[in-house]
Amino acid sequence: MKAIILKQAYTPPSYEEFVLKKEENKVKIKLIASALNHRDLWIIKGQYAGIKYPIVLGSDGIGTYRGEKVIINPGQNWGFNENVQSKNFKILGLPDNGTFGDFIYTESKYIHPKPEHLTDFEAAALPLGGLTAYRALFSRAKIQKKEKILISGIGGGVALFAMQFALATGLEVYVSSSSNKKIEKAISLGAKDGINYTRENWHKDLLNRSGGIDIIVDSAAGTTFNNYLKLINPGGRIVIYGGTQGNIQNLSPQILFWKQATLLGSTMGSEKDFIEMLRFVNKYKIKPILDSLYNIEDINIALKKMEEGKQFGKIVLKNN
Ligand SMILES: NC(=O)c1ccc[n+]([C@@H]2O[C@H](COP(=O)([O-])OP(=O)(O)OC[C@H]3O[C@@H](n4cnc5c(N)ncnc54)[C@H](OP(=O)(O)O)[C@@H]3O)[C@@H](O)[C@H]2O)c1
Repeated sequence: MKAIILKQAYTPPSYEEFVLKKEENKVKIKLIASALNHRDLWIIKGQYAGIKYPIVLGSDGIGTYRGEKVIINPGQNWGFNENVQSKNFKILGLPDNGTFGDFIYTESKYIHPKPEHLTDFEAAALPLGGLTAYRALFSRAKIQKKEKILISGIGGGVALFAMQFALATGLEVYVSSSSNKKIEKAISLGAKDGINYTRENWHKDLLNRSGGIDIIVDSAAGTTFNNYLKLINPGGRIVIYGGTQGNIQNLSPQILFWKQATLLGSTMGSEKDFIEMLRFVNKYKIKPILDSLYNIEDINIALKKMEEGKQFGKIVLKNN
């Protein structure tokens, strides 16, 4: 088959012939489309644990199995504890070969019918980002209607799912971004307000405008994280699902404990989270926001767009 292969770190992956070994305990899915996640970039940059080469990249995908269109849960072997994944937890696209190819083998329990209201490309964009956002909001932060939520870096794939899920649940949604245009787009989709996080003292402005935030969902961390502690309401929750900007520096324990705030980590989601996410998406007819569509062989153009942070929503790859 043809697939996008990473042969070593810091070299662009290439679209070429690859021999995918048959796996007896798994079913073979013929893939139609896939979608990028920031994880693919981290793997290419060698910044991911347990990298092996060569590997077919990709965690998100839609394909056909026995004539039906299916999407694949990329989070596998979660285990029996809903609170945390088992040590055998793995994500498609490393260590197992992923979705950026003509075919994939996966266990049948991880395939689910494509939501009927979605196009193939929208469905390809849903699995990893939708799952991560769902767990962060519902299983971890336990969001409630009418609460105020800040979703940082709204251009991101997971962030946009978080915004859509929060809006469908009836929360008041605030967003942050490095781009005023992305903020405007988020407001046009239903966010109440937004702030550019590259501005100095942006948190003070947002505090005035929002009157304080109950839940913050963030994938950046880094030096601006302390601003979240100033913004969060007493009893609030901050969920971290990524660390794009690196370690948190000088975290104030005093603010954290005085406000009785909760800091929550969140990773992907369990099989239960995935099924509930699909139910939610079907119930509210949520459609993933797509930034762009590329032919699979244009992978490196698509990756460059993601690296530059130019996207608003998911970048999708179409198979030949
Ligand atoms: N734990 C998990 O299971 C899990 C799952 C999925 C993703 N992640 C991690 O979460 C991060 C995002 O993933 P993704 O696939 O959604 O990536 P993505 O689509 O590439 O989005 C990244 C976004 O990060 C935002 N950002 C950059 N610097 C920021 C800052 N200082 N403050 C706030 N936001 C900032 C940017 O938003 P603007 O363009 O709006 O500025 C950018 O659009 C990655 O680090 C990824 O590895 C973790």
